[in-house]
Amino acid sequence: MTFCNPNEYGVRFIKENDLMHVLDVIRSRDMFRYSSGASNCTIVENLISSRIQGRSALLVSSGTAGIRATLKALGVGYSDFVAVNAFTFIATASAVYSVGAQPVPVDFDPETNISLRHLTEVLGHKPAAVIAVHWPGRCFDLTQVKRLCDEHKVVLIEDACQSFAARTGKVSAGHQGAAAVFSFQQNKLISCGEGGCIVAEDTDLMCKIRQYIDHGISRTESGFPEPDWVIQTPGENLRLTEIQASLLRGQLEKLDALLQNLAEGKSQLLVELSAHGIKEWAPMCSLDLGQVATFLFADEVAANQAEKYARDNAVLLKPIWPKTFYQCYAPEIYKSPMFQRCLTAEAVASRVRILPTPPNMKNEDISKICAVMTSLRPYLIEKIS
Ligand SMILES: Cc1ncc(COP(=O)(O)O)c(C=O)c1O
Repeated sequence: MTFCNPNEYGVRFIKENDLMHVLDVIRSRDMFRYSSGASNCTIVENLISSRIQGRSALLVSSGTAGIRATLKALGVGYSDFVAVNAFTFIATASAVYSVGAQPVPVDFDPETNISLRHLTEVLGHKPAAVIAVHWPGRCFDLTQVKRLCDEHKVVLIEDACQSFAARTGKVSAGHQGAAAVFSFQQNKLISCGEGGCIVAEDTDLMCKIRQYIDHGISRTESGFPEPDWVIQTPGENLRLTEIQASLLRGQLEKLDALLQNLAEGKSQLLVELSAHGIKEWAPMCSLDLGQVATFLFADEVAANQAEKYARDNAVLLKPIWPKTFYQCYAPEIYKSPMFQRCLTAEAVASRVRILPTPPNMKNEDISKICAVMTSLRPYLIEKIS
């Protein structure tokens, strides 16, 4: 099915001359991060670091791998539990399960995204970490979440897989937690097929993560393993390749133009929608890259029908994540004694739909979207109850 608003961003700006970086890597036969000077991986990490107020950046094979490696490096494992936004993609929780720990869901709040009341309760049980999740193209202000974590001496990780380059005030997604993870998978701002990046505040933590994603090896400046080959803790291979990094490089070099294009396209769409009496539903405390517009429907049936109606009219309207993470698991898997259903998060998951606003939307695409959303206006609501 071809949509007038496909969920693709930076990859739409890949042009023939960007392929030069990729071809150079292949021609050089140095496709592996540590077989050469790893110029593309290093260039990409430096470009990302400069966008996250200088935090060190490390490319990894996926967003899920990034969360897993961070938890491993923090020593999170069996008998631990980790507080996670209930409203997130299954991967956030799966990464917690993959290190042997239990994810405990925390409810949604329209003002702060993560419910501070519920988080305070969960923090009282001493989780090993808190993972706060940003929405597509948005960065939530985590000041209060961070304050609560600091008071309880619990480390805060940002799952910013959907929010590379998003900001709130002067702070970028990835700059509020001890570590943060981005994804470069499909439907993300920039993409290289599969891939991710970890940014961290502390150099010791980053050093442990770097070793974990590279079989536990320590390397010299030139990229060779330390001569003694002493592995402190076993790791895995979660590295990104030079080929993937070269694809990201071209997109990063054009990122500012992409962001401007997205902001302009979305604001034109919002102006036209508001002329039809339609407003986006956007929780507070977040600034937005213009990747998607968000709408809240009266109930799940209305949201599903809206999605179908839009699809029949070649407009893509889709759930962010169709269920809370714990609704994705069979009930018997979910056995943490701290478990509580998160009713607001369940309501948001079932009733919110996003409308991608890709770069270079044409006037006719915007008109088509406006016509569809105008038909759906009677089913839109402004507040989650
Ligand atoms: C919130 C969130 N966390 C984690 C991930 C996992 O990222 P990846 O697919 O790169 O492993 C995603 C992917 O979309 C996501 O949306």
